[in-house]
Amino acid sequence: MAASLQETDTATLVETLRHDLETRLREKIEGRPDSHLIERAVRGGKRLRPILLLTVFKALGGTDYTKALDVAVALELAHSASLVHDDIVDFDKTRRGRVSLWYQIGAGKAIIQGHRIINLAFNIVLDIGEEMTRIFVEAWDRASKGILDEVVNKAALTERLYLLMIREKTASLFEAAARAGAVLAGASPDMVQLMRRYGSEVGTVYQLADDLTENIKRKSLGRIYFLTHEMRERLIHLLVATKTKQIRKLYRAVTPYTPQEEFMKRQIVERIRSAVNLAGDERIPESAYKILLKELPWMFVKQMLREGGKRV
Ligand code: IPE
Ligand code: MG
Repeated sequence: MAASLQETDTATLVETLRHDLETRLREKIEGRPDSHLIERAVRGGKRLRPILLLTVFKALGGTDYTKALDVAVALELAHSASLVHDDIVDFDKTRRGRVSLWYQIGAGKAIIQGHRIINLAFNIVLDIGEEMTRIFVEAWDRASKGILDEVVNKAALTERLYLLMIREKTASLFEAAARAGAVLAGASPDMVQLMRRYGSEVGTVYQLADDLTENIKRKSLGRIYFLTHEMRERLIHLLVATKTKQIRKLYRAVTPYTPQEEFMKRQIVERIRSAVNLAGDERIPESAYKILLKELPWMFVKQMLREGGKRV
């Protein structure tokens, strides 16, 4: 088995993980009265966080795969629910190439449905145990705090604050994925720590690349972009600043901060290097999954770029 694994290429491994995840996801949703809405919310995602979790789990020699799959399913469910909420916050009418849920069924229903999906996710991890539940609760708290910070403070950012914000908003869930995978594999506290750092780097790279492509799009479309995207975004920030009575943020709301392209590119390169180094730790046994661990950061960025290409 080990020998044949070594010969399997990493793309095939990812496809197998993805396939197992989809099967388990369907099993968990089946039979619920709201299954069609949950299906609708999870459809079309790239499944990056669960793939990260399962890869760490396998690379560290985890054995209870069903358990790991359950946690991976919970992670994807909660992530999808947060996107349902995100689209309401940002007034985004499309998501994953389709009409967003709130635009289809109304914001009120979409908020409640999002909560129900998060409940389902937390129930699944609760069955696994307290430690796993804590990892989830902590990660979701960080992520929602990061999103709030973005909505309220976006315009007041410096490079350092920007990095902190994306670490909370996006990387916290990638960190939780890697952490959960390591804990489920029975890794030592040191190894769990190492994997958390790895997950956080992968998530940070992912968000940096996402923002960088947005910047590039913005530049290439120029005035059209401003009229179709940015003006609306600025108006939303203006609205938030007014409603929250943070009048002194008004000016910053209409002049949003965007990090320098050069800074972002440098950060992406540095962090991919750091993630690959962490994945190369000699305590992790050589295997196809270890190789995959080193490939994931760049693989995720490429998948996002491919998706972005389709989206525009
Ligand atoms: C979207 O996450 C939110 C960001 C952190 C950029 P993904 O790009 O992983 O979204 P899906 O799940 O594949 O749709
Ligand atoms: Mg959004």
